[in-house]
Amino acid sequence: MSSNAELMARRKAAVAQGVGNIHGVFADRAENAELWDVEGKRYLDFAGGIGVLNTGHRHPRVMAAVEAQMKRFTHTCFHVAPYEPYVALAERLNALAPGNHDKKTLLVNTGAEAVENAVKVARAYTKRTAVVAFAGGFHGRTLLALGLTGKVDPYKRGFGPMPGEIFHIPFPNALHGISEEDALEALHQLVKTDLEPERIAAIIIEPVQGEGGFYVAPPAFLQALRAFCDSHGVLLIADEVQSGNARTGKMFAIEHSNVVPDLIATAKSLAGGFPLAAVIGRAEVMDAVGPGGLGGTYGGNPLACAAAIAVLDVIEEENLLQRSLDLGARVTERFRRMAQRLACIGDVRGLGGMVAIELFKDKDRRQPDAELTKAVVAKAAEQGLILLSCGIYGNVIRVLVPLTASDEEVDEGLDIIERSLDALADMDNAA
Ligand SMILES: Cc1ncc(COP(=O)(O)O)c(C=O)c1O
Repeated sequence: MSSNAELMARRKAAVAQGVGNIHGVFADRAENAELWDVEGKRYLDFAGGIGVLNTGHRHPRVMAAVEAQMKRFTHTCFHVAPYEPYVALAERLNALAPGNHDKKTLLVNTGAEAVENAVKVARAYTKRTAVVAFAGGFHGRTLLALGLTGKVDPYKRGFGPMPGEIFHIPFPNALHGISEEDALEALHQLVKTDLEPERIAAIIIEPVQGEGGFYVAPPAFLQALRAFCDSHGVLLIADEVQSGNARTGKMFAIEHSNVVPDLIATAKSLAGGFPLAAVIGRAEVMDAVGPGGLGGTYGGNPLACAAAIAVLDVIEEENLLQRSLDLGARVTERFRRMAQRLACIGDVRGLGGMVAIELFKDKDRRQPDAELTKAVVAKAAEQGLILLSCGIYGNVIRVLVPLTASDEEVDEGLDIIERSLDALADMDNAA
């Protein structure tokens, strides 16, 4: 059997370095919240393949649905010979998305593709061009999605020119000195200085920024964006690629604010590990695009649709919305206790089961500690925990453990985080 080191040497020789690796842990098999590497070492998985596994690795319900579909057919291309699971999933998502209006759904493969299609649909419906997005936001790596993404390194550097008609404003982030009022004022300034509101097709926002650092958009801010959109004929797009599908204790995080978006882009945990993404939107908006304007060869692959329908069943039957809230409360409470003891933890925040801590030097919020964050992620891996960082300053540790993990597994992972922080803080003090 190959070792992680051998495989990493082969990977370095054969795979483009632009595809970054957070861990040098080559997966051999995985089950719910556990993963074993090729050397037989067991890990708890607090990353869930970057928020893809709210229902865990290989949920038996999802596996059975995919196996059953695999025995019938695996691909026809929905444009060529449509199939019922695509339609059934669209019906389910239309019913689950917030708002009582009629909705329609488009299925694609990735989060970036969902975001791009939401923008295409918004432009076709409004017959306008401009899109407003937020600093620190992440919407994907394809060029239009990258244009919307609000972070240069490592995503945008060297890939210009970026697509036109995209305008960034600050995301409200009280911890880093940007109030809701500041962010709204920036929008009002934008339409005074750069962009007439009648040119804006859509505003796109993550209700909880994912890669940007798990910053939660305040409900009043989302409500103010909705009011702005309503008064100027602008569409509101919620990017729920990371925050959707039960992660925050609601099917979609924007539901916490009671704001109804016109379009939702979602992906990741939608299909429990199979590549699938969706745009769910107002029926008349979605139908602004004529036949042939949307879709793709693999979009809404039948295996992925079968998986997603099973994921939605699991969310319902295993009461994962409530589980997300309980899990979030458990993790938050534990982090708060750690923060009382450990000076490096400058903030504990989240929404439901989407929880993070932010690390600083010397308790000083002007000094984000990306080095310590990186060291904690590495130390945790040594002790058998797969962990992810995030944040515009690279100093946030986020928890995306499957919602199906047991309390014991969650506690085991939190113990490792605490031990790692303790060990590294001790080293800091000794230095
Ligand atoms: C909020 C958000 N939008 C879009 C994307 C892009 O999704 P994908 O990597 O599936 O293209 C991501 C991925 O992390 C995301 O978190």
